[in-house]
Amino acid sequence: MIWVMVQFASTILLAVASGFAAMCAGRVCLAPTTGKMASRLRTSLVLICIGGLILFVKLAATVQLAATAGWIVVEDKAVAQLPMLLIPAAAVLWCSIPAAKAIRADIRAAAGAPKEPPSPQARLSAAEPLWAFPVCLAYIGALLSVIQQFFIAEWPLPVGKILAVWAVFAAWTCLLWIELRNRHRRLANSGVPEQGTRAARLYRKGGAVLAAASVLVIWYVLGAQASRVPDRMSMAGDGHAGGHARHAAAAAQPVSVAELTGPRSALPDRYFYLEAQKTMVTLPSGEQREAWTFNGELPGPELRVKEGELVEVALYNRDVDAGVTIHWHGIDVPNAEDGVAGLTQDAVMPEQLHIYRFVADEAGTYWYHSHHQSSRQVQMGLYGVIIVEPDEAPAQPAVDLTVMLHDWQTENGTTVTLGGPDRLRRVKAEPGTPVRLRFVNAGNLPASVYISGVPFRVTAIDGADLHEPGDLTGARLELAAGGRYDVTFVMPETAVGVARRGGPFAQDSGALVLSPADEGLPPDAAADSVFDPASYGTPAAAKFGPDTRYDRHYTLVFDNRLGFYNGKFNFVQTINGRVFPDAPMFMVREGELVKMTLANRGFEDHPMHLHGHHIQVLSRNGKAVTGSPWIADTLNVAPGERYEVAFEADNPGIWMDHCHNLDHAAVGMSAHVAYEGYYSPYEIGGATVNQPE
Ligand code: C2O
Ligand code: CU
Repeated sequence: MIWVMVQFASTILLAVASGFAAMCAGRVCLAPTTGKMASRLRTSLVLICIGGLILFVKLAATVQLAATAGWIVVEDKAVAQLPMLLIPAAAVLWCSIPAAKAIRADIRAAAGAPKEPPSPQARLSAAEPLWAFPVCLAYIGALLSVIQQFFIAEWPLPVGKILAVWAVFAAWTCLLWIELRNRHRRLANSGVPEQGTRAARLYRKGGAVLAAASVLVIWYVLGAQASRVPDRMSMAGDGHAGGHARHAAAAAQPVSVAELTGPRSALPDRYFYLEAQKTMVTLPSGEQREAWTFNGELPGPELRVKEGELVEVALYNRDVDAGVTIHWHGIDVPNAEDGVAGLTQDAVMPEQLHIYRFVADEAGTYWYHSHHQSSRQVQMGLYGVIIVEPDEAPAQPAVDLTVMLHDWQTENGTTVTLGGPDRLRRVKAEPGTPVRLRFVNAGNLPASVYISGVPFRVTAIDGADLHEPGDLTGARLELAAGGRYDVTFVMPETAVGVARRGGPFAQDSGALVLSPADEGLPPDAAADSVFDPASYGTPAAAKFGPDTRYDRHYTLVFDNRLGFYNGKFNFVQTINGRVFPDAPMFMVREGELVKMTLANRGFEDHPMHLHGHHIQVLSRNGKAVTGSPWIADTLNVAPGERYEVAFEADNPGIWMDHCHNLDHAAVGMSAHVAYEGYYSPYEIGGATVNQPE
């Protein structure tokens, strides 16, 4: 959302503008000539105006965000920063502006030539603290606001830290006042502006820099230390989990999540063998690269099963040195089958075998991927699609096509692909044939999809069917990272195109074209709106409604700031101001109805994925979902958005709840939903093989 960017940018710009204004205003009284003095005064006033303008924009952005998404999206910035910005702004208006008028009058009264030194009276009124002090104050406030914004963004409001920042503000203000007061006094006594000797000035500046540097160094060392993930720890928290985990320990006889397996002895209805291996692949553009694949295929083999079937998958790791696992993204499998290294199993090391077993009980489009070093391994190719087909056979033969959206980082930048190839891909479809396209976003960022040449319906989101979806034309789809959309239409006489970008369907556009004969091109990809699941289809009975009473309500506030993750300084992505393993643990009991508020204060998208459960989206920015019930397992929370979602705690165990921009998860954006009475026997940390992110 644009206002989030505006609010972030204006904070920085304000510090820059007020910094220059303060520097300039403080030096008006030191001007060697009348002309210089007048021009410094003018420059100061211009910079003050610019600062005022930026402050106004920042206020507007804050109000706008609060009005659309709610107070929670701006709370910390508003509470912590506004006093430090508005008080100086008022002081500038009340004191500096009248003082500037007085200085100008004195400069004019002396009426000396511009090349001559200014009159003592003009100098004295320019040194009057009421002129420069408020401007310097504005700079201090703006600077501390930047620090607040980029270092201590938290939820709930970090009262202690905010008070500490205010204390620095107050102390700095006092020092500044004394300094300017004394300077004025000395000037009144001697009549000459004291520049001080160069050595003295350097000495003072050097001292300030040294003090700031030592504070930084201490902060760095302590912060890096504190953020280090221990060599061995339980992901499910053993005191590192932010307090809530103690409940788990309190329960009598905790149960190991390793016991929460799928049916172990029955004969499986479907059996798959997936071998993780290093593979050299040739992208259709001709580029060769090493990939890590399942069975040498990229993406991995498409697994198709029928609703209700018992599925067995044998995972064998041939030579992926760091180990692998498989997570069944979107399928609510029993906890021990969830494939999270260090939480529900140990990583499967080279030449090891691991068996997954679960009943695929809900038809839909899902995907699987390694959940060990996920950010790296998914990028390298360890993912594929798994489709659960409905029990009854389709009425007529149909085109049923998976379209994987995945971006390869290649030497020539990012190659955007549809289902693997980066060249136009053609599929034959007879007119009148029902077509189902299953879009899977395997990337880290939201993916756009344009469909041209036919009205279409979004039939399912994240495997869950929508109720009475209507025809769409000219609407762009935006898939959350990790999310899936099923799109259906009846094949027309003419070509239908699917593209990641707007524009013509050229041979090298990496697009997909369906046509009755292998020729013809669809109209250019274009969109005049973005598909919105919150108001699509018609309402139907759902698990959660306005009258539902919830047993728990948790709030997750996402933000970004500078900080540490596992000993390294980083731009970290936080949940409630914290990164893993300090991110909160959300405790639930079996059978409870849980509501969650998800709010994004940062400036990046956060596709939140809860393992083992489906969530129902209740509202966005305070407005209830009006269309079909919206069930998802991965929900993109865009900057400046607030969602309310609900789920039933009906699948015991310990579950990850993390950002599916896997690079964000890898810098700490990872929390857990844990059922009371369960523990994980697996561990993560440098002394183990497991790296879930
Ligand atoms: Cu698709 Cu925790 O991941
Ligand atoms: Cu994120």
